[in-house]
Amino acid sequence: MSASSHRIVLLPGDGIGPEIVDACRPVLAAAFPTWEFTDAAIGWGCWRTAGDPIPAETWRALESADAAIMAAITSKPAREAEAELADHLRGTGLTYRSPVLQLRRRLDLYANIRPVEDLLAGAGSPASSLDDGPAPTPSPRFGFTVVRENTEGLYSHDLSMAGPDSNGLWDVVKQDPTVTHSTRADTAVALRVTTGFGWRRLLRTAASLTGRAADPSLRRVTVADKPNILRESGAIIRDAVDEVAAEFPDVDFEIANADAVTMRLITSPMSFDVIAAENLLGDILSDLGAGLMGGLGLPSAANMGDGHAVFEPVHGSAPDIAGRGIADPAAFLMSAAMCAEHLAARGEGTGASTRGNSAVPDTAGSRGNQASPDTADTGGSSATTGSDLRERASLLRRAVIGVLRDDPTPDLGGDNTTAGFAAEVARRLAS
Ligand code: IPM
Ligand code: MG
Repeated sequence: MSASSHRIVLLPGDGIGPEIVDACRPVLAAAFPTWEFTDAAIGWGCWRTAGDPIPAETWRALESADAAIMAAITSKPAREAEAELADHLRGTGLTYRSPVLQLRRRLDLYANIRPVEDLLAGAGSPASSLDDGPAPTPSPRFGFTVVRENTEGLYSHDLSMAGPDSNGLWDVVKQDPTVTHSTRADTAVALRVTTGFGWRRLLRTAASLTGRAADPSLRRVTVADKPNILRESGAIIRDAVDEVAAEFPDVDFEIANADAVTMRLITSPMSFDVIAAENLLGDILSDLGAGLMGGLGLPSAANMGDGHAVFEPVHGSAPDIAGRGIADPAAFLMSAAMCAEHLAARGEGTGASTRGNSAVPDTAGSRGNQASPDTADTGGSSATTGSDLRERASLLRRAVIGVLRDDPTPDLGGDNTTAGFAAEVARRLAS
């Protein structure tokens, strides 16, 4: 094995994050012995005590690392956030912005890749819990990837019309029927910024992830949007689809209404390979995917840009169960596996920070992957590191899936603990 290592920033965050990271440290050390880990502070504690959820030294660590793996971070509405600030910071004009969104915007992590895999193969889905049912089937009933736009869309601007700084928007909305019955102070406007630049890069990522679906004959990008209603932004997206589709002649691109996609996800999930969606719609669709998988404890995500990559569970900080030692560490460990697959694809040694999106994680792991041309290793000793990392990622995946099926935490109906789950994964890795 090559001695080259990668510098990985761990972001325990808050809520269930720190207890998950602490339980999983030995697993990560065993699974990826060449990685150098550094912890960096982020989240609610940093906000309350210092008024900034991402300290400057955390930004520095992130900017120089090969990748980061985040556990869980609380995002609360601005007013609640202000109320929880330390006394000396309250009323000083500090504004809370979700650290998760800050990371995505500032590091330009434009593609949020969220694989929806049938990890439990029939054992934990809503469909199978309807009856006592047959024994779990080994063949997956779905397997697709949601690629969510992470830097624009409906998350871009959410503006109060109260002040004089309403950017001329008041004049746009003031004649709307409900607005005429309201006041300026009682009105806010969210903008869906949509650019051809943003969509072309997202769609290229989406296209490069096709061909890994549960149905191996599929090579399809489904754009889930609302072009019949959001006509102007929909037209930008359609033009981007036309342009990128011409670059990928063997990929079938379809634009579908997002509401219809939610229904198809329930009735015929096997019809999807890659689903691309703008920020808010992708947020919703990926939680639907989590529901198909069996719960939010399972899915993990890669936030990828051209310069950086941050891996995270799709779940949040779950303050209701924080400190009880029962949080499911599966998604965090799967995030680490995605990180390894990404670094393997990058085929790089130490040094430069991740140039994320030239290589997408081998998210589907075991299912008939068709590596896209740009995920190939660059050769020499890097290739050795790459295949070694891929093998290690796959061993970790297999161990996690095994424990998920045999001895899960309470979110999946078991009685295992966070520490017990992690210890069992470590034991299986060692055997
Ligand atoms: C997610 C989360 C975040 C989002 C929150 C925590 C800011 O729901 O990653 O899906 O809305 O994007
Ligand atoms: Mg979400």
